[in-house]
Amino acid sequence: MDFLAVERGLVYLANMGPRVLLGVSGSIAAYKAVEIARLLQKGGAEVEVCLTRGALAFVTPLTFEAITRAPVRTEVLGTDGGEIAHVEQAHAVDLILVAPASANVLARLAAGFADDALTATILATRAPLLLAPAMETGMWENPATTDNVARLVARGAQILGPGEGALASGRSGRGRMLEPAEIVEQVFGALGPRDFAGREVLVTAGPTWEPLDPVRILSNRSTGAMGIEIAAAAARRGGQVNLVLGPTHLVPPSHPGLKVVRVETALQMLAAAEAALRKNSVVIGTAAVSDFRPAAARPQKLKRSDPAAAQLALAENPDVLATLGTKLGEGGLLVGFAAETEDVEAHALGKLKKKGCHLIIANQVGSAQGFGPGETKVVALDDVGGRAAFGPASKTKVAQFVLDQVARVGKQRSG
Ligand SMILES: Cc1cc2nc3c(=O)[nH]c(=O)nc-3n(C[C@H](O)[C@H](O)[C@H](O)COP(=O)(O)O)c2cc1C
Repeated sequence: MDFLAVERGLVYLANMGPRVLLGVSGSIAAYKAVEIARLLQKGGAEVEVCLTRGALAFVTPLTFEAITRAPVRTEVLGTDGGEIAHVEQAHAVDLILVAPASANVLARLAAGFADDALTATILATRAPLLLAPAMETGMWENPATTDNVARLVARGAQILGPGEGALASGRSGRGRMLEPAEIVEQVFGALGPRDFAGREVLVTAGPTWEPLDPVRILSNRSTGAMGIEIAAAAARRGGQVNLVLGPTHLVPPSHPGLKVVRVETALQMLAAAEAALRKNSVVIGTAAVSDFRPAAARPQKLKRSDPAAAQLALAENPDVLATLGTKLGEGGLLVGFAAETEDVEAHALGKLKKKGCHLIIANQVGSAQGFGPGETKVVALDDVGGRAAFGPASKTKVAQFVLDQVARVGKQRSG
């Protein structure tokens, strides 16, 4: 497919569309899920379907397979060509929608069950979860369901509807699933912008390890959390992302648009980044690259009694970000991060100029601040005097802010 799908002002390049997992559970409204799958595809999404055992009593896998041209999964036990399907799918999808969501599936999700393909995938995913309940008013208003819904919302799930109207039983009341078009509109709203579609994005993240001898290193406190969040968000926003990641215990999510290269030293980081660089790349340098490395890594462990042990001779490392900047063309964008302990904005502006960045993201760091998964506060400064502050907020939210700023500066430069 090589067409461009345009719907509700959103543009998706085919094959680069967001991957949506549609879960269908045992409700009379299950037949409407066929229309939901079709509308999602029409909007440019790649759709995969999971049916619960309950759903199988209402609709068949064949219908969905014919529409999506992808296999429908129901059971969790079994592997697909050596892959553990629910884990693979959980990491690959951009969003999971359950429509209709039966009272039973809401209860199983609230309790953390993983006893079929859909619930196991939802338990394993980090993707946004949207639930479109459909049931009798009595079931919807039952305190058990109310509790289950509240628990799911508290964990971040978004509940679509239900609306009021004619129910399958012939009665009328709350519990009717929203119309497919309305559900699909909310799905595209939740997927957010696809403003990095077609763009090459290169993110460096994490610390570097500079060996002193076979067991010791020179390093810093960076965990790579910010860069990992930015790389994953850029992939979800449609970018083709290369993440060059220094040593960290954190594991980036898998996404078809995200390629991860693991490195240890600054020299390796530069080599891997140069290999992934294109003239028009968006380069986002979040890595805390060691400015210096031990001048000579000892082949054997340095002993306390060695007269050289108290003297550490250092050699300067290349400036990874500035070097990448010199290799970018007109269409490229260089974004730096400045983690400073004092005079944050002044130092960040100095760094912006020195490294030739188009945008710099400054934040204050200290021994217990700015590192790891906690909240952070940033200021974005661009090369034409623009300034925007954000936070304190989670690194997931800061990543979206950073990408919004990158998109803004990109637009500013191109027109
Ligand atoms: C004709 C019929 C219609 C049903 N419609 C609904 C419904 O709209 N919502 C609901 O929560 N349960 C409904 N149920 C009950 C569910 O199908 C049942 O709770 C089932 O166990 C759900 O299984 P699942 O969680 O695997 O989808 C219906 C049952 C029948 C027989």
